[in-house]
Amino acid sequence: MTEPTDDIELDFSGEKQAATMTAAQAAPRMRELADNLERWNYEYYVLDRPSVPDAEYDRCFNELAALEARFPELKSPASPTLRVGGAVRSDLSKVIHARPMLSIHTETDFSSEGAYAFDRRVRNELGLSDDAPAVRYDCEMKFDGLATNLRYEKGILVQAATRGDGTTGEDVTANVRTIRTIPLRLEGDVPDVLEVRGEVIMHREDFEALNCRQSEEGQKTFVNPRNAAAGSLRQLDPAVTARRTLHFYAYALGEVSDPAFALTQSGMLDRLEKLGFPVAKERRTVEGPAGLAAFHDEIEAARPSLPFDIDGVVYKVDSFAEQNELGFIAREPRWACAHKYPPEEALTVCEAIDIQVGRTGKLTPVARLKPVFVGGVTVSNATLHNEDHISGLDLRAGDTVVVRRAGDVIPEVVRVLHERRPEHAEPFVMPAVCPVCGSATIRDEEEKDTRCTGGLFCPSQMKLSIVHFASRRAMGIDGLGEKIVNMLVDEGLLKSPADIFKLSHKDLTDVLNSTADTEKPQKRMGPKAAQNLLDSIEKARHTTFSRFIFALGCRHVGEATALSLAQHFGTLSELENADEEALIQVEDVGGVIAQSIRAFFSEPHNRRVIEELVAAGVEWPAVEPKTSSQSAVAGKTFVLTGTLPTLSRDQAKDMLIAAGAKVSGSVSRKTDFVVAGAEAGSKLEKAQTLGITIIGEEELRTMLAGETASAESVSENEAEAPAQGALF
Ligand code: IVH
Repeated sequence: MTEPTDDIELDFSGEKQAATMTAAQAAPRMRELADNLERWNYEYYVLDRPSVPDAEYDRCFNELAALEARFPELKSPASPTLRVGGAVRSDLSKVIHARPMLSIHTETDFSSEGAYAFDRRVRNELGLSDDAPAVRYDCEMKFDGLATNLRYEKGILVQAATRGDGTTGEDVTANVRTIRTIPLRLEGDVPDVLEVRGEVIMHREDFEALNCRQSEEGQKTFVNPRNAAAGSLRQLDPAVTARRTLHFYAYALGEVSDPAFALTQSGMLDRLEKLGFPVAKERRTVEGPAGLAAFHDEIEAARPSLPFDIDGVVYKVDSFAEQNELGFIAREPRWACAHKYPPEEALTVCEAIDIQVGRTGKLTPVARLKPVFVGGVTVSNATLHNEDHISGLDLRAGDTVVVRRAGDVIPEVVRVLHERRPEHAEPFVMPAVCPVCGSATIRDEEEKDTRCTGGLFCPSQMKLSIVHFASRRAMGIDGLGEKIVNMLVDEGLLKSPADIFKLSHKDLTDVLNSTADTEKPQKRMGPKAAQNLLDSIEKARHTTFSRFIFALGCRHVGEATALSLAQHFGTLSELENADEEALIQVEDVGGVIAQSIRAFFSEPHNRRVIEELVAAGVEWPAVEPKTSSQSAVAGKTFVLTGTLPTLSRDQAKDMLIAAGAKVSGSVSRKTDFVVAGAEAGSKLEKAQTLGITIIGEEELRTMLAGETASAESVSENEAEAPAQGALF
């Protein structure tokens, strides 16, 4: 057995030795420790490839700190112990930059024209004729943080300063030393004076974590990662900066004692990277403006998946000789240009929180915003999802908010500036009754959603409910799509699905022609089309019990559940009066579905609509209750693709569902069989890749027939027996 004290002995051995060392012994040891610590730091933070356990790092760190405490005169200005902070200051002193820190001309045309305009200016200034070769450019990202100058003398970081006004910045040396990816000492062949410029930024993930911590501790939160980076870098106590994770990306030089340090921008970045500076890998040299525009597009596509915010890209003439020739105009170089993207975040005011009611009755709170240009469009609404989302944001009407729209993503309120909250802003409360129809609302604790129980009676749900009711796989009324339903509802001719059966020929032709788009006469409904619609309404009166249940649009009741319910209960009154306990007995019906069915039939409006439908002559043949639906295909998942020789896709689907199978629209590992017909495309390919059994119509028929005819499986026959017995 090992003595447990061994580890402890090991941990403190360095520090113990430090206590007995002479200065002559300490100096080389301190240098060795510092070198190791810095190498491990680089491997860990820059390369993401740690080579020693954290405990070993800590042991060496403690030993070095102990030696520095005993021999302060031997402490290096590049010591890794500086990375955890240092003395607190009363203010940040001023630094005059050896070379001014310039700004860049911004191309505000977000389209590729911005790239072409820059190239035209460069060619013009360089006096290049139209047939002269394309200019070579270095393309980089435009980081959204704080420009910072790092000054190295004889390879040691001696000063770091913010850009300030470009001439004078603030001394943030102690804070910058805490940024783990910034080298404190440079190895190898380095100019005596080397100023490296780049951006100090905060990654989005670290920003979220920081804001979380800040609000937990009752401290102020930051509006965006840029502000958080600025606040963290300009701290008087470097230990605070050390606790915030900041990053640095190099992109330019300041004063350099060696004029031949690099000949091109891209070569310079390569060299900085070799010296251990973080340089973003998203950079490229291109020829001519098409290459610039392609880079702009490519980075725009990558933008949402980057760990940090950027607000554009930067183009730079690659050759330093050409840069010198181009020179500056005011304080902007003619050889560089920032080509922006539409901003993804903007500040605005949430003027109100409204409620929208969807088809299934979900109440969705929506922020009505003071219109703001963000992500390339004007945004005036943003979804707030549900009650918990609002309390998570702590949002009230009147608040100033940050709205984000990245790529094609739906606009979102991402933050609230609580310090700007108006005095009498009231907390949001989810309404207890539906704001559209006045029915009671219920909150689904599991899904955190609030729903209107009004069902078919609620006008908001009505249009979409009627469309669903009429849809092909429900009542199957051909020609009664969303457009016509909307018109008929708006004209007051449809107030519930039962009204469909009261429509006259005159209703259809009059209303639809008076409200139809006169620009598009083909959209009008002629007498023939009206008659066709009436015919299909008439046909739909004779339906099946399962289609009728599905058509009612009760939440969670899809086609398969509707079929199970029809077979289990057999009659409408049995179903209407079934309690949750009885409902749970039905195959595939769990607690959530049972509750939803119960809630649907408990709503008097829904009962009334059903009565009206029955009174309008909607009918179906009696269904004998089926106790089980075991068959060769029961419980299996099928995907239909391509054109089958004789069966339509709908017929095949009906047959499968009736036999207890599930029919899905897309192929996944959960698919059991793919039924493929002529011209089957990507679904077939995917099934082949995943090794899923592929069958044709004939095999499908055999499998379905096996349900009743095959004697091969005893269990199948046994299972089918009661149903058959009941049917005949
Ligand atoms: S080069 C003379 N490269 O943009 C040009 N700047 O408006 C020196 N910035 O203050 C700057 N990313 O904060 C350069 N890849 C990049 C950049 C970049 C962001 C910022 C920088 C500067 C501002 C210029």
